[in-house]
Formats: sequence, structure tokens, C-alpha cells
Amino acid sequence: MSNQPEVIYLKDYQVPSYLVKSVSLEFQLHETHTRVKSQLAMAPNPKAAENQPVVLHGHPDVTLVSVRCEGESLTSSDYSRDGELLSLPAQSSDFVLDIEVDIDPAANTALEGLYQSDGMYCTQCEAEGFRRITFFPDRPDVMTSFTTIIEADAEKYPVLLSNGNLVSSEVLSSGRKRVTWVDPHLKPAYLFALVAGDLAKIEDTFVTMSGRKVALEIFAERKDLDKLDHAMASLKNAMKWDEEVYGREYDLDIYMIVAVDFFNMGAMENKGLNIFNTSCVLANPKTTTDTGFQRVEAVVAHEYFHNWSGNRVTCRDWFQLSLKEGFTVFRDAEFSADMNSRTVKRVEDVSLLRTAQFAEDAGPMSHPIRPDSFIEISNFYTLTVYEKGAEVVRMLHTLLGPEGFRKGTDLYFDRHDGQAVTTEDFVAALEDATGKDLTLFKRWYSQAGTPEITVSEAYDAANETYRLTIAQQTPATPGQEQKLPVVIPFAMALLDAQGQALALEGANDEGTLVLEVTEAEQTFEFNGIKAQPVLSALRGFSAPVKLKLDRDRDTLMFLAKHDQDGFAKWDAVQSLAVGVLQDLVAASQKGEALALDERLIEAYRAVLADESADPAMRALILALPTPAYLAELATEIDVDAIDAARTFAQETIGKALVDECLATYQTLDWKGEYSPAADHVAKRSLKNLCLSLACAAGSDKAIALASEQYQSANNMTDQMAGLSLLVKYGSQSQRDESLASFYDQWQQESLVVNQWFMLQAAESKEGAIERVKALTEHPAFDAKNPNKLRAVLGGFCANNPVNFHKLDGSGYAFLADWIIELNHSNPQVASRMLTPLTRWKKYSAARQDLMKAELNRILAVEGLSTDVYEVVTKSLA
Ligand code: TRP
Ligand code: ZN
Repeated sequence: MSNQPEVIYLKDYQVPSYLVKSVSLEFQLHETHTRVKSQLAMAPNPKAAENQPVVLHGHPDVTLVSVRCEGESLTSSDYSRDGELLSLPAQSSDFVLDIEVDIDPAANTALEGLYQSDGMYCTQCEAEGFRRITFFPDRPDVMTSFTTIIEADAEKYPVLLSNGNLVSSEVLSSGRKRVTWVDPHLKPAYLFALVAGDLAKIEDTFVTMSGRKVALEIFAERKDLDKLDHAMASLKNAMKWDEEVYGREYDLDIYMIVAVDFFNMGAMENKGLNIFNTSCVLANPKTTTDTGFQRVEAVVAHEYFHNWSGNRVTCRDWFQLSLKEGFTVFRDAEFSADMNSRTVKRVEDVSLLRTAQFAEDAGPMSHPIRPDSFIEISNFYTLTVYEKGAEVVRMLHTLLGPEGFRKGTDLYFDRHDGQAVTTEDFVAALEDATGKDLTLFKRWYSQAGTPEITVSEAYDAANETYRLTIAQQTPATPGQEQKLPVVIPFAMALLDAQGQALALEGANDEGTLVLEVTEAEQTFEFNGIKAQPVLSALRGFSAPVKLKLDRDRDTLMFLAKHDQDGFAKWDAVQSLAVGVLQDLVAASQKGEALALDERLIEAYRAVLADESADPAMRALILALPTPAYLAELATEIDVDAIDAARTFAQETIGKALVDECLATYQTLDWKGEYSPAADHVAKRSLKNLCLSLACAAGSDKAIALASEQYQSANNMTDQMAGLSLLVKYGSQSQRDESLASFYDQWQQESLVVNQWFMLQAAESKEGAIERVKALTEHPAFDAKNPNKLRAVLGGFCANNPVNFHKLDGSGYAFLADWIIELNHSNPQVASRMLTPLTRWKKYSAARQDLMKAELNRILAVEGLSTDVYEVVTKSLA
């Protein structure tokens, strides 16, 4: 915490001066203080320069009690402590350090290191949390074997967990329990974990492909024991999938997951002991929506897949974060696609990428998936590193084909098992396994910004040739003025007048051909094309780019009807709807009467009628582009006009299709037992989409159905859908009564209360800021719990644009007040919450001034965390 925090550069990387051969840790947990004793067997690194001081990381909050080197006590003149570093005299041969420290988990509100969550102890060490536990070379290229002893009151903390295998457990005469865990696998400190509490668990087993039996245990507070089955089923599916698709087997005798309610992120892949945000592990039909179920499945798989992509092969330094995160997101996306609907998963992921990641890449924090520098690494757990990183791996998969890619990953895992490596090593393994030259491709790792692809077509009837010219250009981003062309796998097809894909040379069964674009501008020629074809472009969203392709609305209607590629079909309707909404936004800004292009209604009508299509895809196609996506596409964001346009479109479409919607609702309104399987989810999503359109039309019948559904639903998806429609379209008393009865019913379920908060935070009606302030005073709100903050503050800033951006500046001031408070208690969360203010450049001058004023107010705060400092200064630069 200083005003000029240091910038860390990739180019300055140096190997560690000393290695840790093994470490043993002993935790004496007491509620008022915790003593941590560590013994580090260290050695000079033969690859490093000699005679360097021994430097350990340690957070200023860690109290150093004693340090001994080779058994000799060191006095304060033997070492120096400066900021986060403890420096000891250089050593020329192997040596042993014994260190004792005191820490205070109860006072730890940052939720990094060892802290308390609802009366239990847990840890979060990625990226640099281990230094809040004790002094250690806290960098991912220092890997070692850990032995962990935990001692705590046996009655209050009967469950004492750490990484690896349990080798001893006893209750001492003092009434304390003492356990020893040994992790035989080398790992960096960021993968260390400890849990202590009075926890309940469910158990199962998994037999690996080589026949080893693995114990699976999922822990939670006793009251949540009925919400763990879905995570267990997901874990077993993930273990099997990784064996089948990547040939990767689990490597310890036990795999544990613990659910904690206070957690800064989604979940953490600690070796053998994952720690999860309750929101990403607990699931029960009564309390969890379909989206929640799918998130649990995806996150459980994600953390499991890290066991190979992240743990067995880890990152050399934090600039390589996408090495594990991009790859693992790609792996979990493919897993979810295999477990559910591939196209639905793709559409959801692309929507997130195009809305939020593209906005990040065009904003002040824009960075390559492998950044060149950072101030605070916590700020780089971004959509770019994760989601764009996954797209980059997906492109490699597309370019190499599934077999080539698998050969490459086999080589990568075998070659680097037990090592801390770089994205260069990953690409080199793919190259060596396949013979493919990926030199140019690597620009994706170092270049920020979203490439813009301009596609133009020329058909020559006389020569029966069709020419496709693809030009690319990437806009400048902070610190990167000049951009080079990147390698773009451009998946395309040509459709004939009947909508059939032409059999292009090299195309697959669906007629898809992948063109490899490598230059700033390139023309591809197709011969023997008998008539002007229709281009199906960027099928499956084969590259994370913005496509500039002028297609008239009739062509989009044609693609909506005929394109065999599910993604392209969805995208055609999406483009049509975007165009129609942009017209409405323009009309609203000019004060003109709004009129909707009927073609959008026709496209929607056709989708509603198409009973042969997947209901989930129909629901996705029928959903209007979100305000956030329209904002991303706009040059200057006018939240009020976007809101007016969408509200008008929804109402107009609803009125035109109300009968079809109600009829579809009736045929899908199925009251059988709940299942989170994709076909059930699909029906619920279409059913609820239809109900919302009918409610938007102002249909009394629809509102009555929403009310009935709210009251009689046997699952949270339907109950929540009913509630949100009553809140949005019902009378004031329907709104008030349903919100009150919902709270009454679910007040004991923290995660359900979060949904209830989120719904109200997004309400755009008059008086929003007062309502949101009241929510932060509600007894169920807890400013120390990130899930609550995300629900209320995050929900307001992200889902209530009209009020967050209110021209009196009240929304901005509200957020800034909270950032200033959270800066002290939880810097990671403060910095993440800050994002909406950093996007000021895209708003009108009046809003820009208000937003900048709040950023400057935050910047003036004494003791700004590195987290908040970096984001504020970069966004004001
Ligand atoms: N590695 C975690 C993941 O799987 C990310 C994570 C969890 C994290 N908790 C964190 C990152 C806290 C930074 C801080 O994606
Ligand atoms: Zn991850």
C-alpha cells in the first residue's frame, strides 16, 4: 500500500535464487491468534547466480516470532524486513530455516491467506495469499512437497484438512485434535490449502482407468448436506471425461471439495482439496436455478481439470496465468458441451465474450492474454485471460484438428509434468507433436485488442467464381499502438438458393471449410460456383473477432431459416435484432415515434413455430440482445435510449406473438419431477421466455400464469421466473407481496437470498437508488461477504444501467462510496466492483465528468490498495 506501487515486468523474470526441497508446516489454530511454525529445507538454485540473499515473501500483517537458520537463532540484525520481503544472508550450500509467525485469521477480511468463513477456517492462496500465512518464496516456479500438521479444538473443529493424504490423526489429552497431511506431489505455495471446521460431508468413490480407487468427499455446513449430490455427480463425470478425452488420470487417493460462503472468486483448485464458493457447489432443485446447476457442473469440472492443466504442469510466473486458465476454461467448455447441448453452450460463451470481454479489450485495462506487466496480479484474473485465453486454445484445436491437438497435449503433459512452464512451452509442444509452425499464431498471446475482420464478396457469374476477401485490423490499445495481423481460422460455408451448403473442397460434413487467414488482407477464390451463393461466416465463432460484414435483413432472415450451423443461425437472428434495435435507439434519440421492423417479428414467429428445433436454442434466439451487448456495440452509450428501444421492442413483439407464446407455454408447462438434464432445462427456458414475452405484451392471463407459477413451482427456476415477472410486470401489491413471501420462505437460504437481492437491485422503477441503499441495510446483507456485495452492488451497477448512470450522479457516488470502504476491507473485491466506472470514455460528456470525478475521489483516498490503485490510475490515464 503506497502511492507509487512497483510495476512488475515479464521481461525482468529471473529464476529463483534458492529452491525449497521440502516444507513442513504446523498450524496451531486458536480463535484469538494462530501460530504457524514452518521448516524449510532449502538449497541454492544451481541455475541461479551465486551469493544472492535468501529472499522470502511475507505480508506486513504477519508477525515474525522467530527465525533460525541451521538451528541458530537469527537476530534482527541478521535479516531485514522491507515491505513484503524478508531478506536473510546468502547461503552457499543446503540449509534449514525454522520460522515461527503469528497471524490473525479472525481479522482477515481480505479473504486471502488463512481466514474465517461462518465459523470455519479456510485458505485462499492464489495468487499471492500464502505470504499472508508465513514467510516463503511465494512464486509459482518454486515447487516443493508439503507436510501439514494442524492442531485445533477437537470439538469445535473436528474436521481438519489439507492437501494430499492423511497420515495421522489423534485427539490429545488437552482436548485438541492433531492431524498430519502429506502431499507427495510437488506444488507451488499458491496450491496450498487448509480447512478446519465442524463440517458434514457426502462420500463416494471413483475407479480410475488404471483401476485405482479414489475416495471422493464433499464438505459443507450440516444444513447444506442436501445440496451436494449434483457436485458429486459432476465431479465423477469430469474425472471420466478427462480420462476419455485427454487420457488424464487422477493421482491421489482422495479428492476433497469444501464449500465456504465467504470467497472472493468462484472456486480454487488446491491440490486434492478444492475450496469452493457455496454458489459454485451447492445445488438443490428447490433452491437452485438451472443456471446454478450448470454453473456447479462447469466449475466443479474446471477445478478438477486444473489437476493437470495447472497443478501437475503449473505456471512459471503469473504472466503465464492463461497457460492454465485459458486452457482449463477451454477444457471445461468442451466438457459442458458434451454433457449438455454443444450449440447452447457455445452461444452462451460467445455472448459473454462479445459483451464483456470485448468491452474489456477496448477499455483502459486492455491487456494481452499474456500481459507484459502488472502492478497487482489479482487484477489480471480477467475475462481476457480466461475467456479470450480459452478462445485462443480453441483456435489451436481448430487449426490442428482434434487428433493433432490431442497429440500436442499428450506431449505437453508428459514433457512438463512436475514443472512450472510458459505459454511458449505449451505452443512448442503442440508444434513438436504435429509439425505445424505456430510462430505467427503466437501473436495472439502478446497482442491485446479485438481484431476487426472486414469481409467482402465478389461473384463472377461468367467464370463461376466466388471471391472472398478478408481484411483484418486490430485497434490500438493502451501501450500498444501498432498491431500486426494475427492468424484467424475463419470457418465458413457457401449456401445455395435452397439453403444447402455447397460441397467445397476440404469442407466437413456440414459444408464448413476453415480458411487460415494470416495476412492483413487475403482473397480466397472458389471455382465452379454456379450461382451467387450466400455466405455463412465465422461458423461456430471460430475466432474471437468482430465481424464487419454488410448483410441486408433479408439475407439474415435467409440464414436464420437455413444455416445448418447452430451458432451461425442464432447469430443471424441476433444480428437482425441488433440492427432493428439500433434503429429504435436512433429514433428514440431523435424523439421520433418508434416503429419495429416487422421482419424481426416474422423471424421470431418462425422460431416459435419450429417445434423440431431444440427448445433451448429457440429460447436463446428469441431473447433480445442484452443492454450490455448493445452498449458494447455503440460508439457512445445512451442507456436511456437503449432501454426505451428494448422495452418498446419487447412489448411490440409480445403483442404480436402473445397467442403463440401462451400456446407454447401451455404445451411446455410440465409439472413432473425436476431434472437438471439439458432437455428439461431447455423446455423450462423456452417456457419461461414465452411467458415473459406474453407478460411484456401486458396480457392479464400471462400475469395470472406467472403468479400461479410462482406459487406452485416445485423448483427454483420456475419460481424465480414467476417472481421476476411479477416484480417487473405485476401490480405494486403483487410485487410487494411476492417479494415479501419469497423472503419469508427462503430467508434461511443464503444463496436464495442473494438472488432475491439481485432481482431487486436490477429493478429500474423510480426510486432505485433508495431501494438499493435500503438493501445494503437489510439484516441479511453482510458487507464482509463478497456474494452479498456482488448481488446488491454488482447487480445494481451491471443490471440497472438506467439508474446506475442516472444523470444526477447518484449511482456513481453510491458505487464510489462502497469502493472506498471495500478498499480497506477487501481490496480484491473493491477492484473488481470498480469496473463499471472505468468505462467512462463510452458515455456522454456529462456522464464522463461525473464518472471521472468519482474515480478521482477514490484516487485521493489515503492508503489505496495496489488493487484499486492500478485500476483507477489506468482508467484515468
Ligand atoms: N484459480 C482459480 C480458478 O480456478 C481462481 C481463483 C480462485 C482466484 N480464487 C481466487 C484468483 C482468488 C485470485 C484470487 O479460476
Ligand atoms: Zn481456473
